[in-house]
Amino acid sequence: MKQKVFVGCDHGGFALKATLLPRLKETFPQIEFSDLGCEGESPVDYPDYARKVGEKVGRGEGRGILICGSGTGMAIAANKMGGVRAANLWDVNVAQLARQHNNTNVMCLGGRIVPAETAFEICKTWLTTEFEGGRHAARVDIIHEMETK
Ligand code: RB5
Repeated sequence: MKQKVFVGCDHGGFALKATLLPRLKETFPQIEFSDLGCEGESPVDYPDYARKVGEKVGRGEGRGILICGSGTGMAIAANKMGGVRAANLWDVNVAQLARQHNNTNVMCLGGRIVPAETAFEICKTWLTTEFEGGRHAARVDIIHEMETK
């Protein structure tokens, strides 16, 4: 079965999503990218899109990419959803560590902060880097325990 990645944005992230998504689809034909909105630059509320993506990721249906103006609001909102480990990413080093150490299943980007080419490199790194497990797994388990209390 194809790996799934659910993508969401608000008006602040729409332009970046529009340039990024076709490139990701072309680069990763083995991944099914599903666009959960929004559809344009009219103001919307970013938590609504974090929720849409977070519900899918929390149910284990795939991973998520969320884009708002700064990436911060999406990360805060997505991390309220059970089973979601979201991080706001700004370079490939952070993207790599967010997979290797934190096993993030949602990555967030600031559409008004991160240049499109950097965002593409971040996505490529995040999508292809594996979780290291080991000592990091124990730490991620603690986070899961905190969530289920
Ligand atoms: C919308 O203006 C902006 O606040 C939003 O895109 C995001 O940056 C919030 O964190």
